[in-house]
Amino acid sequence: MCGIIGYCGHRPAVPLVLEGLKRLEYRGYDSAGLAFLQLNKLEVIRSEGKLCNLEEKVAKTANTFAPISIGHTRWATHGLPVERNSHPHKSNNNALAIVHNGIIENFQELKDELLQKGYVFYSDTDTEVLANLISDELDALFAAKFSKKYEQMQAELESISQNSLQYLPYMEEAFRNALKRAHGAYAVVLLSPLIPQHLLAARLSAPLLLGIGIGEYFIASDVPAFLPYTRDVVFLDDNEYVVLSASSYAVKNIYVGEEIAKTVHHIPWDLQGAAKDGYKHFMLKEIMEQPRVLQDCLVGRLQDDMVCLPELDTLAVPDSIRIIACGTSYNAGLWSQYYLEQFAEIPVTVEIASEFRYRKPILNKNELVVVISQSGETADTLGALRLCREKDYPVLGICNVLGSSVAREATVSLYTQAGPEISVASTKAMLSQMVVLLLLALYYGQRKKLACPVREVLRELKALPEILENALPKMRDKAKEFAFQYAFAKSFFYLGRGIAYSLALEGALKLKELSYIHAEGYATGEIKHGPIALIDPDFPTFALAFDDENFSKVRSGIQEIKSRQGRVISLLQEGTTLENEDLWYIPKTKLPEFIALPAMQLFSYEMADYLGKDVDQPRNLAKSVTVE
Ligand code: M6R
Repeated sequence: MCGIIGYCGHRPAVPLVLEGLKRLEYRGYDSAGLAFLQLNKLEVIRSEGKLCNLEEKVAKTANTFAPISIGHTRWATHGLPVERNSHPHKSNNNALAIVHNGIIENFQELKDELLQKGYVFYSDTDTEVLANLISDELDALFAAKFSKKYEQMQAELESISQNSLQYLPYMEEAFRNALKRAHGAYAVVLLSPLIPQHLLAARLSAPLLLGIGIGEYFIASDVPAFLPYTRDVVFLDDNEYVVLSASSYAVKNIYVGEEIAKTVHHIPWDLQGAAKDGYKHFMLKEIMEQPRVLQDCLVGRLQDDMVCLPELDTLAVPDSIRIIACGTSYNAGLWSQYYLEQFAEIPVTVEIASEFRYRKPILNKNELVVVISQSGETADTLGALRLCREKDYPVLGICNVLGSSVAREATVSLYTQAGPEISVASTKAMLSQMVVLLLLALYYGQRKKLACPVREVLRELKALPEILENALPKMRDKAKEFAFQYAFAKSFFYLGRGIAYSLALEGALKLKELSYIHAEGYATGEIKHGPIALIDPDFPTFALAFDDENFSKVRSGIQEIKSRQGRVISLLQEGTTLENEDLWYIPKTKLPEFIALPAMQLFSYEMADYLGKDVDQPRNLAKSVTVE
């Protein structure tokens, strides 16, 4: 995920911005850059890879005492992670540079318009389009006022530093005009030699906050960026922009331009805590950011109620699919079997990578291998991938980490766009894998021209972020309540049927890896074939009872457990009920898996926290298992 920091004040800004970028490193990034003013000329330095590359370049530059600077770390999702795509981006006329988080959805339309006017683009980014759009608006204002464009005013502009306020209203208006035309999400900061003592920054659906110091102000996407200097913060809201200098700031509305009184909040976190956005653990933070993850996964993949996965367009529609993965990624693969078979009518086999690679697997002609891996570095999954590539089977890699081995070695890759997952227990990565796999099922259904309900499913999917956002606080309370009640357990069953079966496996995996309570996931219908012998009052069950065609059968399964004195937590959707005291209601949706998964994650999290376990780094586990 990208990170932003901007500074104006009494300290040398460039080293401060570099340090701020380092504190945003935990978010993950693949390139970085910064901009500052040198003799009132805009200087931009950018570099691929780690921040040390940028530091090296900066060290070779004469003036690092500039009092104003902006910086950015980029986590590429669209456009390669190369220097030309990294931020800051300048306008063609060098009037300004911007850093930007988020996605300008109508960038192509705006770019076409600017191309027609003769603008040139040096990157694949939407950010460069926004930079030129602002400068185009500025030129329009200058032409009306001075009958000249920015480039024709160079002589006058040389004396600008003495009189920076003169052009501030024009730049502000241009900034606002451009942002009013940009749809999507942005946190954007602008630096310009026209306003050498000021930064402009705005937000829409992407975090941006102002740090308030004495004789200095900071603007950043995340608190840790400026935490050593101040804990006093103003959170910008959507459609707000801020004009800041070393001595003042004013927050205004983008549409009406009026100043808005803002509250200054004091951040109680230390650096370590702030890196978790104030959450006690990364795991909790990652669970809570899943509404955003749901949104991010869809970005660039839907068009006119159709699924677009252009990465796959050149591969033939397979006759069968072999999904290979480990752990949580395996559970996501197993879950997708139902949808791939239902919507795409493609037979699917799901395999554990460590088993697959040591068999003599026989793949079908025209079979597509799908490997799923959050990290893209899991040794067993990579081994399976290599085996299939050696046999010349096409491999689709589904992974989260850009440039990882799976991404590089697969025939084609789909990124899950979940942002860096730091906690060892995988949470948001699985949710994002499920979104991509569901899109894959719809995509093949479309390509096969089947009567699959693409529009209806997409409508449900698009509604999920809001439903989940609203549900999370209540789910957390419920998870706490049940964790307290069930912390006595030494063993747990997790039961699910149909689409809920793989979630039961995942629920059990999460509980055991975090709280070290033994847990087994079973297909609800299978329990009576042996495992039910274990049931007694000390052996509880977590049952998934979705409002689908399996509901009555699941209800019978729960009754069988209850009649043997087994205690059951039943996770069910609003509008249904069961003869059971420990009911956990989640909102009604046709895709309940996307709500049930975070609920189970929260239950495991609260259980582990209550039992005093090391939530983010459970014993014996590593984030990425790079050994066999
Ligand atoms: O990076 P991967 O998705 O390939 O990792 C696979 C498993 O190691 C991983 O999902 C593991 O099971 C998680 N720690 C579970 O939370």
